[in-house]
Amino acid sequence: MALCEFYNEISYEMASLEEELLSSVKTRESFLWDVLKSTIKAGGKRIRPALVYLSARFGDYDYHKITPLAVAVELVHTATLIHDDIVDDSPLRRGVPTVQASIGKDAAVYAGDFVLAKALKILVDHGDLDILKSVSGMLYRVCEGEARQKKEAFNINISFIDYARRIRKKTALLFAMSCELGARGAKASPAIVSCLKKYGMMVGMAFQVMDDILDLTSENSGKPVGNDIKEGVITLPLLYAFQKSPFSRHLKDLFSDLSSWNSGTVEEIIQIVKESGGIEYARRIAERYVAKSKERLAELSDNPAKSSLIALADYIVNRTR
Ligand code: IPE
Ligand code: IPE
Ligand code: MG
Ligand code: MG
Repeated sequence: MALCEFYNEISYEMASLEEELLSSVKTRESFLWDVLKSTIKAGGKRIRPALVYLSARFGDYDYHKITPLAVAVELVHTATLIHDDIVDDSPLRRGVPTVQASIGKDAAVYAGDFVLAKALKILVDHGDLDILKSVSGMLYRVCEGEARQKKEAFNINISFIDYARRIRKKTALLFAMSCELGARGAKASPAIVSCLKKYGMMVGMAFQVMDDILDLTSENSGKPVGNDIKEGVITLPLLYAFQKSPFSRHLKDLFSDLSSWNSGTVEEIIQIVKESGGIEYARRIAERYVAKSKERLAELSDNPAKSSLIALADYIVNRTR
């Protein structure tokens, strides 16, 4: 787990979360258990459960009531990653082989469904129907976002609005929901829930823009570099290069004719995007979302959890993995 400032306030919770996550996916099907154990032990950043715990600090905080929500949110995230890696045909996540690379695409579909079903079971046991409604409403929108991304693959005509709409659905909604669940689970007032939800949405937007930058730049993300390009996912840095690069025509031609690609094409595209200033542009947009997220917190009373949420927002644009 990343050791960042914003985890300090919830260090006990984050340490015990690891055991909770592992026991939540226990199954007698040993091949499933082995691969899920390895995925969880590889250790994601756990940002979404951190949002649950920190948001819960704005209400009547009860560790035992909030923990199932934090676990469920991380499981929903894990399930979407398992399915996403199938679709993206990705070999590596968190520095270890993806579920689909380990057990094959077919079994990985079931592994993702299994984890999602476990998340839903935890939420049903938790017993708050309003929370279940929020989660199911969010889930189908995430699927819409992911499906739209597939449909828009290699489409050089998508706009900034198309991109923003897609990342809002596929990523930002789960961030917003993590804040909402924490705050609602702690019975915070509707006004507080609303502020935190909006904060989560903005942080989630920034998070995906940064993820899209890291896809092009980061050697230590634990994921393959350039996978978005390989899959034809048009992200913000690339969109910028389509518009501003002197090689824009060449770039668009490449995306319109896959048969022209060779082993060096992904690297060539990354180079063109970098030289166009697409990375700096996308970073400015991410910083703008982070600034907006902090504005949403202004109405909340000052407390250590609020400082941690501010630190988390800053971490989003400074992270390297
Ligand atoms: C990856 O999320 C999926 C995106 C929404 C970009 P994270 O970067 O939070 O993944 P882990 O959990 O830390 O591995
Ligand atoms: C994934 O987005 C968002 C999900 C809903 C899973 P990405 O495809 O960019 O995530 P990574 O880069 O594979 O983690
Ligand atoms: Mg992916
Ligand atoms: Mg990505």
